[in-house]
Amino acid sequence: MTNRDKTAKLIVGKKEIDLPVLSPSTGPDVIDIRRLYTDAGVFTYDPGFTSTASTESEITYINGGKGELLHRGYPIDQLAENSHYLEVCFLLLYGHLPNSSELDDFVNSVTIHTMLHEQMQFLFRGFRRDAHPMAIMVGVVGALSAFYHDSIDINDSWQRQVATIRMIAKMPTIAAMAFKYTIGQPFVYPRNDIDYASNFLRMCFAVPAEDYKENPVLSRAMDRIFILHADHEQNASTSTVRLASSSGANPFACIAAGIACLWGPAHGGANQACLEMLKKIGSVDKIPGYIKRAKDPGDPFRLMGFGHRVYKNFDPRAAVMKKSADEVLDLLGIDNNPALQVAKELEKQALEDDYFIEKKLFPNVDFYSGIILEAMGFPTSMFTPIFAVSRTVGWISQWKEMIQDPHLKIGRPRQLYKGETHRDYIDINQR
Ligand code: ACO
Repeated sequence: MTNRDKTAKLIVGKKEIDLPVLSPSTGPDVIDIRRLYTDAGVFTYDPGFTSTASTESEITYINGGKGELLHRGYPIDQLAENSHYLEVCFLLLYGHLPNSSELDDFVNSVTIHTMLHEQMQFLFRGFRRDAHPMAIMVGVVGALSAFYHDSIDINDSWQRQVATIRMIAKMPTIAAMAFKYTIGQPFVYPRNDIDYASNFLRMCFAVPAEDYKENPVLSRAMDRIFILHADHEQNASTSTVRLASSSGANPFACIAAGIACLWGPAHGGANQACLEMLKKIGSVDKIPGYIKRAKDPGDPFRLMGFGHRVYKNFDPRAAVMKKSADEVLDLLGIDNNPALQVAKELEKQALEDDYFIEKKLFPNVDFYSGIILEAMGFPTSMFTPIFAVSRTVGWISQWKEMIQDPHLKIGRPRQLYKGETHRDYIDINQR
């Protein structure tokens, strides 16, 4: 909403331009520069969008200074403690906590859509067995649009709803199939009589010769990982989904674009990179050497699982994840996990170090998640696919919000051009 008491003034050469100021429901005011180019003939420059609000949104709010993450107003720690993933999905998608009949309907709709079109098995079989599961997921999720033609019309609200449910329901099946394929085991079909997290664990760990025995502590830990990664406002992969969908592309193609972006080690790939780093460090006596390397501007090494673009105090998800890591390792009787020991000591030493204090670098959600996932039996290559399963609801919620926005425009950033100016073509014999 425009704040009538405030305007921003910009002086460009001899021209003075008044820019409206928009007030959010919470958080910093936003200067509206939409007419800047028309009125002043200039662009703004903001690589990495560090000061740019790309959209209006009502879904998720982060206060990086306070270490606060709210989904539709509800703090993440309360949701992780009291809710479960499908309830959080409903909340993100529809804006309120469901009553019991709304929740039953939603859970039922997701549950009855967990199977994949049988023909999709052959798609999996076209990949090399040593493919990274994320590579398979990018391809298979994009290919959903070739199988579900009845839910790709973005202008039809019913089709948008069907696509939403299909994505949330089928993503665990796709991730589990990608896992099974890469380890050479037969695919395990979903089962509709167990909860979302247990079903995912079963599809990953059951084999025809031996069924998977559900464990409520592990299922709860899995569900918490899903909740903690469910949405995170306009992060890189979500912005990718929004940019892709701004052209009117179908939802399956847009989510595939989000998965591609998530794969990078600075984003969703950090949990894999973090556990690999903890193992490489190996023992607590090696920690000071690695901290020294992380501080050296001439060394590209960074502490993975540390730092965040928005959180400059602490990542509220990391505290829940640390507690969950202790619970899971305790349950599994793993009391001397070297990676966990290195992680705890590394966190302690880094948090006492001036470099990390001054730059406000804290453990992020990925610092402890890899330890839990490995203890559950997942290889590091599955960490990012699990993140993708969790984040699907965030991508879809943001996509839904965007499609319904009457101000929707194709995303088209401008640039600060530093290349050659006009020059005439030279014939090859004269170069
Ligand atoms: N280790 C050592 N130094 C770091 C780290 C780190 N993990 N993170 C940032 N820094 C330093 C940078 O070198 C930079 O120093 P400088 O000011 O002397 O140049 C300063 O802190 C600011 O870093 P930027 O990269 O400019 O901060 P940005 O906000 O762009 O990056 C990011 C955030 C990408 C998360 C970064 O902290 C990072 O690479 N962390 C490691 C990867 C990681 O854990 N990613 C997961 C993010 S959470 C998620 O996606 C779920």
